[in-house]
Parts: sequence; structure tokens; C-alpha cells
Amino acid sequence: MCQKCTVPQTGNLMQKRKIIIDTDPGQDDAVAILLALASGEELDVLGITCVAGNVPLRLTSVNALKICELANRRDIKVLAGCDTPLKRHLVTAEHVHGKTGLDGPTLPEPTMQLQPQNAVDFLIDTLRSEPAGSVTLCPLGPLTNIATAIERAPDILPKIAEIVLMGGAYFEVGNITPAAEFNIYVDPEAAKIVFSSGVPITVVPLDVTHKALVTKERNDKFRALGSAVAIAVAEMTDFFERFDKEKYGSEGAPLHDPCVIAYLLEPTLFTGRFINVEIETASELTLGMTVADWWRVTERTPNAMFLGDIDADGFFALLTERLARY
Ligand code: RIB
Ligand code: CA
Repeated sequence: MCQKCTVPQTGNLMQKRKIIIDTDPGQDDAVAILLALASGEELDVLGITCVAGNVPLRLTSVNALKICELANRRDIKVLAGCDTPLKRHLVTAEHVHGKTGLDGPTLPEPTMQLQPQNAVDFLIDTLRSEPAGSVTLCPLGPLTNIATAIERAPDILPKIAEIVLMGGAYFEVGNITPAAEFNIYVDPEAAKIVFSSGVPITVVPLDVTHKALVTKERNDKFRALGSAVAIAVAEMTDFFERFDKEKYGSEGAPLHDPCVIAYLLEPTLFTGRFINVEIETASELTLGMTVADWWRVTERTPNAMFLGDIDADGFFALLTERLARY
């Protein structure tokens, strides 16, 4: 039985939810960041921590700065974190996102600077300075930064209200190998650390994001908003969609990462199950697979809310309404 996701597990609806977005932009990461920055009544973005993933760290960091400037949010702290997975060589996805990681629109080189602090130290220091259970982490890329912070400073665990991450797959199986989704595959050891941390986790897998497709009609609505942000989003989608349309024959690009932010804003758009999810780190054949006990056939202890469905029309209505605020 899938349960309708209700109000967020943490925090109350009157207060803003403090979040840190950990990201590897990536066009879909960019839309997630823009959605979060347009939702200032609900979300307080404490910072954006960048990780190597879709493209190397040097580029994900620059891309995050470009997105903040596009949003006219030079106040946002952007920090660079880990440039390689914990134990493996970096695998990137230029074949999907282009050589810059943000192909599509022509965005100016940023004049904003990265914060001098390393993103992992920022995660640790910020969590240590906040009340217990008050900060939600929103990983949109490989989990290297998050796992490194947990390993280096396990005392931060009680400070984390929830981790809401884009990653993994069950019914949808893999998108980078037959068994694994990209974010988990790039750093499976990091994912294993996060999934065994005991922190409340909500997983937004391909099972959900492959139902959040930017059809031509939906992208035309973005473009019709007419702002520089909205046109850039439409141009990102025009580029980003070609890979998935060719591979899956789908009618548009799956907007993976914005689903994480939409979950924070309107959890009732989603359904899922609280189940056990383990990460494959030994088999080269299924490395990075999220072994989700969806049918509860094991005695393994549930450790994650694993989402399975989305109200796609509701998601795009929310996203379009928020993009219209720029
Ligand atoms: O598999 C999709 C995920 O990998 C998304 O977060 C995308 O940005 C890439 O990081
Ligand atoms: Ca991403």
C-alpha cells in the first residue's frame, strides 16, 4: 500500500524550512535551485554545496554561481566540495548535460565568487550551529559531500532533520548501467554511508522522476513566461531532453532534481512507501543499485521513504507558478 505523503516529517508549516542544496549542476539541478530560490516563503536556503558528478567540480561550481546570478540572488552562499568519489574514479555525464554541464542557454561567466570555505566544512559548521533537527539536506548529485561530512563529524547527525535526495531506482532500474541510477552509481560507498546513517531519508528515484517529463506543451508554457529565467529553463530543457527522448523514446526530459524541492513544497503530490533500501557496493555488475525492498520480502529494517508516484500535472503547475515569480 502506497501512502500519500503528508506534511513534511519535520518542522511545522508556519516556519520556513532551512535547507542546504548539495548539487552537481546539471540542467535539472539548475531548475531545482531556481524553484527553491523562488519559494522564499517556505524555504530558507542556507547554502548551495557543489559536488563532482554530471561534470567535474570546477564546472558544477561555476554552474551553481551562474544559476544564482541568473536568479539575481548574489546573496546565496555557493561552496565547492569534493572533486572525486570516496573510493572510485569520477564518472561524469557530458553525454547528457553537454561539455559545460549546463548546455542550452548562453549564461554569462559569473562575477559572484565561491565562498572560500570548503563545502564539507560548511555543512559541518552550519549543522553544528543550528538547533537539533532543524536543517534539511537536499542532495541532487552523488552523495560524496554528505558522506564525507558524516564520516568526519558524526555529531552532526542529530542536527539533520531529514535528507531528501534524488537518486536510485526500483521499477525503473538504472539509467547509467542496467542496474544503477547515476547519482548513486558515481559514489556507491557514499550512498551506503548515508543510507546507514539513521537520518530520516526520503528517496526521489527514477520511478518518480521519469514521470515528470517536460513535454513540448509544458516547455512552451515555461518559455511563454518570458523572463530571462524562464527562457533559460526552456533552453536548458531543449538541450537536456534529447538524450532521454532518444534513449527512452519519451515525450520529454525527466525533471529529476526539481522533484526534491517540489516534495518539500507540496508533499501530497507524491506517494511512496517506508521500506528498506540498501546500496550495492561489491558487485561490479550491479554496483550502485538501490536494492529497495518495495514488497517487504525481507526482515531488513525500513530506513527510507521511497517515493513511487507523482502527480505530474500538479508538479508542473507548481513549477510554472514559481518560475512565473521571476
Ligand atoms: O540520474 C539523474 C541524476 O543524475 C540527476 O540528479 C542528474 O542531475 C544527475 O545528477
Ligand atoms: Ca543532479
